[in-house]
This record gives sequence, C-alpha cells and structure tokens, in this order.
Amino acid sequence: MLMTITIIGHGYVGLVSACVFADFGNKVWVIGHTPEKLARLRSGDPILYEPGLKEMLEKNLKAKRLIFTDTYKDSVPESQIVFITVGTPPKENGAADLTAVYHVAEQIAKHLKPGFNVVSCKSTVPVGTNKKVEEIVNKNKKANSHIAVASCPEFLREGSALGDTLHPDRVIVGSSSKEAVDTMLELHKPISGDRVVTDLASAELIKYTSNSMLATKISFANLISFYCEKTGADVETVLDAVGLDKRIGRSFMYPGVGYGGSCFPKDVQALMDTGKNLEIDTSLLQAVENINQQARENFLKNILKHIKGKTIGVWGLSFKPDTDDVRFAPSVYVLRELIKKGFTLKVYDQVAMENIKKILGNKLTYVNNPYEAVENVDALCIFTEWNEFKQIDLSKVKKLMKKHLIFDGRNIFEPKKMKKAGFEYYGIGRS
Ligand code: UDX
Repeated sequence: MLMTITIIGHGYVGLVSACVFADFGNKVWVIGHTPEKLARLRSGDPILYEPGLKEMLEKNLKAKRLIFTDTYKDSVPESQIVFITVGTPPKENGAADLTAVYHVAEQIAKHLKPGFNVVSCKSTVPVGTNKKVEEIVNKNKKANSHIAVASCPEFLREGSALGDTLHPDRVIVGSSSKEAVDTMLELHKPISGDRVVTDLASAELIKYTSNSMLATKISFANLISFYCEKTGADVETVLDAVGLDKRIGRSFMYPGVGYGGSCFPKDVQALMDTGKNLEIDTSLLQAVENINQQARENFLKNILKHIKGKTIGVWGLSFKPDTDDVRFAPSVYVLRELIKKGFTLKVYDQVAMENIKKILGNKLTYVNNPYEAVENVDALCIFTEWNEFKQIDLSKVKKLMKKHLIFDGRNIFEPKKMKKAGFEYYGIGRS
C-alpha cells in the first residue's frame, strides 16, 4: 500500500530513507530549514557524497514523488507516517543533545490531522527518549487525534547507505501500538532482512548496543596491534586466525589509526552518559574510547620517531572510503598535531578535500592526485583505504618521493612486498 510520508531532516539517514521510500512509489515530503540547502536538494544535488544517491534523488524528483519544503503545514497533515531524523550531536559532557528531537515532536503533533498517525524516530536517541516524545506528542496533539510513537533505528553505513537501507540484516520496530507496528511493517515490506518487533526502550538500546559493540571490536583489534608492535607478532595473521573461530568472526576487527565518523565516537560517549545516569560502571566503554585515542597518538608518535625531514604527503582524509565525511576523522587529529610541529603537508583525497578545507584551511597544500602528493616528500601517510591507492604504481611513487618512508594507517600494503620494493614501511601492528 502506497503512503504519504514526511521526513524531518535531510542528513544521511533522512535523505537516504526519503529516496528509498520514494523509489518504492510513496509520496515523500522532506522538511529542512536552510533555504540554500533545500534549493540544492530540489535541483538534484544531494549535498553529501554517497554512491548512487544523486541518481536516485534526481529520478524521484522528476517523478514528483519527492518534495523538499521548509514548512509543516502542507506536508505533515497529509502524511500517515512522520519520521524524525534530526541530528543528536554530542554535548560537552558526551550526552546526546535532544533539543531538535523534542522540538520537532511538538511541531508534528500540532500539525497532524485528526485520525490515526505514526511518529517514527530514526534519530539515534538514548533509551527513554521516545517515551518523552510520546508525552510531548500527547500533550500537543489535536482533539480526536490518535498518534502512536515508534522507534525504528537505522543501521546504514556511509559509503554503502543505499545498499544497507534496501538490504539490512534486520528491521527494528519498537512500539507499544499494534497499529503502529503494522503500519511500519507495511511500509518496510519491499526491504529485505529479519523483522524484530519490540518495545520502545529495547529498540533504542539495540542501536547503541550495535554501534558500541562494533566500536569495541575495533578497539580490541587495535589493542592487539599494540601487543604486536612490541613483540614482533603480525596483527593481520593473529586476527585472521582468531577470526576463523566462528564465535568471534573477522568483521570489524581491522586495526588501524582508529574509528571516526558521526556515529561510533558519539554513540559510545552517549551510552556512557546514559550508564552514568543509571549508576552503571561504564569503564569498558571508556577503555574502548581510550584505545581509539591511543591508536591516533601511536600513529603520530611513530611518524615523529622515524621521519627525517619536514615534508609529508597524505593519502586519504575521510574517516573511511566512499564518503567525503571528515567528522571525527583520525586524519584531522594527526594533521593538526603535525601542523603544530611545523610540517608541510601535501594532501590528497578524491572527495573529502572540500570538507577538510573547512577545518584546516590553508594550513595544508591540496593536490589533485596521489602522485602529486608524494612529489619530493620525506614520508607518506595513509589515513583512508580508498581503492585507488591499493594498486597504485609503487615504482612511480618511489621515484617521486625524496625519502622512501611510508606510514600506512589502514594496512593496505604487505610489509614484505613494500620492503622488497625499497620502502621503509610501517603498518599498524605489523612486524
Ligand atoms: C556505523 C555503523 O556501521 C552503522 O551500522 C551505523 O548506522 C552508523 O555507524 P559508519 O560510521 O558509516 O557506520 O561506518 P563504518 O563502516 O561502521 O566505520 C566506522 C569507522 O570504523 C571508520 O572510521 C572505519 O575506518 C573504522 N573501522 C571499521 C575500523 O577501524 N576497523 C574496522 O574493522 C571497521
């Protein structure tokens, strides 16, 4: 059954969900509040870099199934489902800032038409938030209006957001209303994956548990890489062997310069904050965060220990490949420290340079390809495992570099091969 939907917010979750639901044939309104961004979206520019998203946006704009607006008055009254996908940025103390969630919940309730409707929250919110959303909605709704609240957390990854939304491992629907659950299951019918129907609190906690568990696996792999560096063991061999144990597995056990992005750092902190409020010992989560910070610091220390000279080439700036996102990217921390120490940095990333410019501006030299980045440098640093670096012409790289020193923060090369090719090569946890 086709529906009319409103989505509040057009970040990764909002925009990708809007495009996917519109592509199924639904009419989807998207509410934003920045005129310049709305104009770009209406012209088919998704603002953020995400493979396949521009094509899907253009297609559904053309079909008039996707409408961008800044008001609630046309969109919300005709919608059966309104999604909240606004940001929940971290406050100074690590707690999630829920101001936007509560503000839009009030606005939605005031504008929904009498009858049955669902308000579904896809923003990542601490356990207990949707109970409060329910209270706000009930306080502000019109007479004869029956609004049910659902929590439907989203598990998409940047860089593979469309595939993850269309083919997730599971769809979570948390609600105490059977009607709301049925409506959400109907909307998600074309999407594959298992269904988990539960209560609001469990749905909220599933999202934080998933992200914190993945962050824990990464920090554990990084911790083992520290042991390997001190003992001469090889972390990739160790983790390959450990991962063969099906109870453990290998995914999200890739050591490196640390996790970044808009989710893991913020969600681990928010889960810690919730734990503190509930008087739960959160030292495990604190250790996950500390190890992530140590991974960046160790990478920096290693550069400073081995480099002779002051010019460094940099490959990759985004927090992971296939995205232009540099939020909490390990590159930002390390480059800031290197700038303070007077290094000249020639940086290259196929899509993230505009975003890093907003943070580090003219303190970096921006170049157009990976070869230009290594011309006459004393060392090369790799922060992101973009495919274009994996099969690069290493003999050309060697000729261009002044000194043949490489710090690989994502273990994209084999140490033995690099040594044979004439490089002094430092991966993460590799002998
Ligand atoms: C994550 C979750 O995977 C997703 O389910 C959720 O909805 C949002 O948060 P995302 O942040 O887009 O997605 O990227 P992800 O692929 O999970 O990587 C996060 C960070 O962890 C990156 O910096 C990546 O480089 C790092 N990482 C990942 C590792 O260092 N090692 C690994 O083994 C895996």
